[in-house]
Amino acid sequence: MTETAKRSATISVDGKTVELPIYDGTVGPSVIDVRKLYAETGHFTYDPGFTSTASCDSIITYIDGDKGELLYRGYPIDQLADDSHYLEVCYLLLYGELPSAAQLEDFEFRVTTHTMLHEQMTNFYRGFRRDAHPMAIMCGVVGALSAFYHDSTDITDLEQREIASVRMVAKMPTIAAWAYKYSIGQPFVYPRNDLDYAANFMHMCFSTPCEEYHVDPIMARAMDRIMTLHADHEQNASTSTVRLAGSSNANPFACIAAGVACLWGPAHGGANEACLAMLKEIGTVDRIPEFIERAKDKDDPFRLMGFGHRVYKNYDPRAKVMQETAKEVLELVGVTDSPILQVAQELERISLEDQYFIDRKLYPNVDFYSGIVLSAMGFPTSMFTAIFAMSRTVGWIAQWKEMVEDPQQRIGRPRQLYSGAGARNYVDLSKR
Ligand code: CMC
Repeated sequence: MTETAKRSATISVDGKTVELPIYDGTVGPSVIDVRKLYAETGHFTYDPGFTSTASCDSIITYIDGDKGELLYRGYPIDQLADDSHYLEVCYLLLYGELPSAAQLEDFEFRVTTHTMLHEQMTNFYRGFRRDAHPMAIMCGVVGALSAFYHDSTDITDLEQREIASVRMVAKMPTIAAWAYKYSIGQPFVYPRNDLDYAANFMHMCFSTPCEEYHVDPIMARAMDRIMTLHADHEQNASTSTVRLAGSSNANPFACIAAGVACLWGPAHGGANEACLAMLKEIGTVDRIPEFIERAKDKDDPFRLMGFGHRVYKNYDPRAKVMQETAKEVLELVGVTDSPILQVAQELERISLEDQYFIDRKLYPNVDFYSGIVLSAMGFPTSMFTAIFAMSRTVGWIAQWKEMVEDPQQRIGRPRQLYSGAGARNYVDLSKR
């Protein structure tokens, strides 16, 4: 944000005129600063779903929804997906610049040596029902980290913030993999620090004490790409939840647990699970028109999962990369003509030509293909959102750190338009 506003907007309310400063970002829409609006006019702004509200000043991630562009610290997502790898992207998101070779080596060492969970946490897992959804387990276990790592919960201490950040990035794959192992009744598999981040996660999911899982480099690369594509996405619902939780000075583990909970919903991170379920429900190409009609019907709550986005009004750039990854993985597993893939490709083709979708600028989003890839890799649908949560943790942490270190930061406390009853007297139970 520029130090001083060069322009202003004028608003007149009930005969009173107020000048509101306008601030320009590097790219993207400028903002009208309404902070003094209530004090000067006695009015709030009304913006359910925050469609016109910038909740913070951030330098981490930028989305141009019309162009279909996503930048992490200025770098386009397709370049990072092609040329970088997840831990380098984590460094970039957390510290603002691409690392030197020495910085990367040091960061990788710090992450790799924090991958184990406190052994007592295994008891915590055992408290869950065996059929618990991995996201239910993750909400609980991530929140419980604050009970195990007291030495990194003081948010006023820079070093503790740093340790908590590295711990979160390092432990999330172990937490997610163990949630999966528990749900299928297999023993927990410990991390292997000789493997890279993505390969280690797959090892913890698919190895057993009886048999080591061989991680194919194409699979590891695909997993790394999935993680990179999901690493951050500016002020989405779960990130805003993390920031709001953190604005009360809650510890980072509690804040990330709040983000995990928010991500679970089918309108957000749960969409990849919902999308694959939808593709399976459609089943065959000939049934697509029926589902397209349902998606258009205002009286039917059905929506095409994996389509549409609050910000992207063009093809989601992550979906393009995911589509390529889907091809690579499906070729590797020898499934190039599965009914689900046929349905997905045909659904995409039809919807891109359909006036309803064109008018509303509804394009496939990242979740449209990620479920197909994860399924081909051997993950059950219940793990899809858990993998998203694991990948997004670094973004949540980077955004949380930025907020804690922002001198403008105050507790998040939206106001409301109250349309309920005015003050009235309590009526005794016998008189109701
Ligand atoms: N299928 C059919 N119609 C849709 C869809 C869809 N998937 N998405 C939006 N629309 C219609 C909607 O009915 C509305 O039509 P009208 O103007 O005639 O009333 C119009 O498009 C605008 O929709 P909206 O609900 O105002 O848009 P939003 O920005 O509030 O919602 C969304 C964005 C992602 C929640 C929504 O598009 C949706 O529910 N998509 C399916 C779920 C999904 O794939 N979510 C993953 C998002 S990407 C991963 C992530 O970032 O979490």
